Amino acid sequence: MFIKSLSHTFSRSKSSSSLRKHFQKVRGDPFNDKKRSQFYRSRAAFKLLEIDDKFHIFNRHCRNIVDLGFAPGAWSQVAVERLGNNPFTILGVDINHATPYKGCQYIQGDVTKTSTHSKIREFFTDEEGLTQPLDLIMSDMMVNCTGHDHYDHIGNMELCNAGLILAFNQLRAGGNLIMKVWQGSELKLLEARMKLLFAKSYAFKPQSSRSESSELYFVGLGKRDFKYQLLLSDLFGDIDEIGKLRKKLK
Ligand SMILES: C[S@@+](CC[C@H](N)C(=O)[O-])C[C@H]1O[C@@H](n2cnc3c(N)ncnc32)[C@H](O)[C@@H]1O
Repeated sequence: MFIKSLSHTFSRSKSSSSLRKHFQKVRGDPFNDKKRSQFYRSRAAFKLLEIDDKFHIFNRHCRNIVDLGFAPGAWSQVAVERLGNNPFTILGVDINHATPYKGCQYIQGDVTKTSTHSKIREFFTDEEGLTQPLDLIMSDMMVNCTGHDHYDHIGNMELCNAGLILAFNQLRAGGNLIMKVWQGSELKLLEARMKLLFAKSYAFKPQSSRSESSELYFVGLGKRDFKYQLLLSDLFGDIDEIGKLRKKLK
């Protein structure tokens, strides 16, 4: 099968060492802002750099990463850059066709579909059937903006809920989730879900995100270890039910 045929680990190849050299060169350059913006596949990179500066998500415990809404690939570029010499496996997923970034793998799929979640699980499963849990899920997914904030918000909520389902099922206890969110009426509910699933949860607006944009990032740190006490359906209860559950599970 296609997914099985993909290599499961990123081996230290010639290309990774030349990439490292490139990053070192760019970092040490006084004109690095201009060079860096030309280097990254999109300016989305700067948002993730700020998120990592604040929350230190690319640490030595971060190996198995899924990049949802991968295209054109700047977030994966940042992950490769920040992880440096640490071993890692990065799988990018996008509904649109994209070109994988060096050292990363990519599959085309709609994250709101169960079949895409199965493909992700399969990718992280070895020949013996052992599945490695994810350490980090990062989602910069966004629907095509209509310009109507409410519709854009509702479209984004569906993508965020798909990210939460993936986190519930495939993120290890202690793992982290970063998600682009679009402000609107359902945001409090999404925040409650994040607080139920993660020990710590933050809303963060990077400086590189335009101030007039409704975009924000939710950062969930340390997925709680529920040990079967929580069902996926619990996560999608209403805000009062989620609040009660949170108190009960503390
Ligand atoms: C803002 S772009 C991501 C930019 C990317 N983080 C980068 O650094 O280059 C949003 C992406 O979300 C993707 N997307 C939207 N809906 C999706 C879905 N249902 N499943 C997977 N990807 C989706 C879009 O195709 C688009 O490439």
